[in-house]
Amino acid sequence: MKILSIETSCDDTGITIMEATGGITNASFKVLADSSNSQIKLHIPFGGVYPALAKREHAKNLPILLEEVLKQSKLDKKAPTPKGVGVPTASVGNEAPVDLIAVTYGPGLEMCLWEGIVFAKELAKKWDIPLMPVDHMEGHACSVFGKKNEKGKGKFNVPKIQMPALALLVSGGHTQLVLSKKWMQYEIIGETLDDAVGEAFDKVARMMGLPYPGGPEISKLAEEERIKEKEALSAFSFTLPRPMLHTKNFDFSYSGLKTAVLYMLQKIGPVENISEEIKKKIALEFENAAIECLVYKTSKAIEKYKIKTLLVGGGVSCNAHLQREIKKITKGKVKLFVPDRNLSGDNSLMIGIAGYLEFIKNKKKVPKPETIKATGNLKL
Ligand code: KG4
Ligand code: ZN
Repeated sequence: MKILSIETSCDDTGITIMEATGGITNASFKVLADSSNSQIKLHIPFGGVYPALAKREHAKNLPILLEEVLKQSKLDKKAPTPKGVGVPTASVGNEAPVDLIAVTYGPGLEMCLWEGIVFAKELAKKWDIPLMPVDHMEGHACSVFGKKNEKGKGKFNVPKIQMPALALLVSGGHTQLVLSKKWMQYEIIGETLDDAVGEAFDKVARMMGLPYPGGPEISKLAEEERIKEKEALSAFSFTLPRPMLHTKNFDFSYSGLKTAVLYMLQKIGPVENISEEIKKKIALEFENAAIECLVYKTSKAIEKYKIKTLLVGGGVSCNAHLQREIKKITKGKVKLFVPDRNLSGDNSLMIGIAGYLEFIKNKKKVPKPETIKATGNLKL
């Protein structure tokens, strides 16, 4: 069946069309078209995502992306009628080019989620096809299976996963350890009590005068310093805290670590005067602390629950240090899945995978469209 998936939970607008076959343990996907729009540049002046602006951009971009994916997939049988911003149904015909629509309904910024949901509802009504609401975090967990090239095409299977499985989901809004004793059943066994790890990267970067999003910036500085550190012992040496590292649960905390960086920066002096060299050292120690907490708790959870498969997803999953350290704790013991670099951040392809699997799992039953609501704090 053909599935069209939509993602608008934060600052990325995405629409993907895939052909999907098979059951929940042997699904196969072919990406027919994929188009997205990142709003990063627009939000840079605000130092983070500005929700009202993000919402407006989603409204503007959804009809454009829809037309693009219909064209790319050669499914635009009907000649488009006049377009209008935010009016999806004006530009597409009544004949359904796909069999199912999947849309992110949470967690995320509610005003952004609504843009995708309303758009999806209109399309589903016009085409008279089912609409499947998808949890963004399930999407991140499923992103590890996806494949797409720069032209937005690709083919991939969802392999049979050895259970129990664990997902480490790390993004700008979430830091979670999710246990699956059975495939597609989720239990959150640990999560952050305050800031998400990606959020901590972003905030620390901002304090150091680095642009949004801060994760890749900090990571770049830390990697440069990491190579040097191996060669010479640093004159400016300090340690940052590893909050909750040895607590018996699987929870995390990142706000204390962020504050520790703030105090340290205040001691050193105005940020404009802090040299690149010192910034690199801070970035390295911050990254070491942030990642150590993730990896240590993950290794403890692997031990406790006798985990056979680990999936790592979310924007922070592309962090090079995290990937190296996670490989060390899983090597030879646990089958590890991480997303391709172009699928670690928010994307609509992962929503298509999760949407299809949920649709099959629910025996092709979907909720009534009027019951689908943006749910900012949705939990797996
Ligand atoms: O999953 P995502 O694209 O959006 C959310 O659902 O939040 O994650 C975005 C987060 C941002 O906080 C960003 O700074 C972080 O992922 N991130 C990174 C890296 N690349 C992106 N954090 C650390 N290292 C990276 N290389
Ligand atoms: Zn995300």
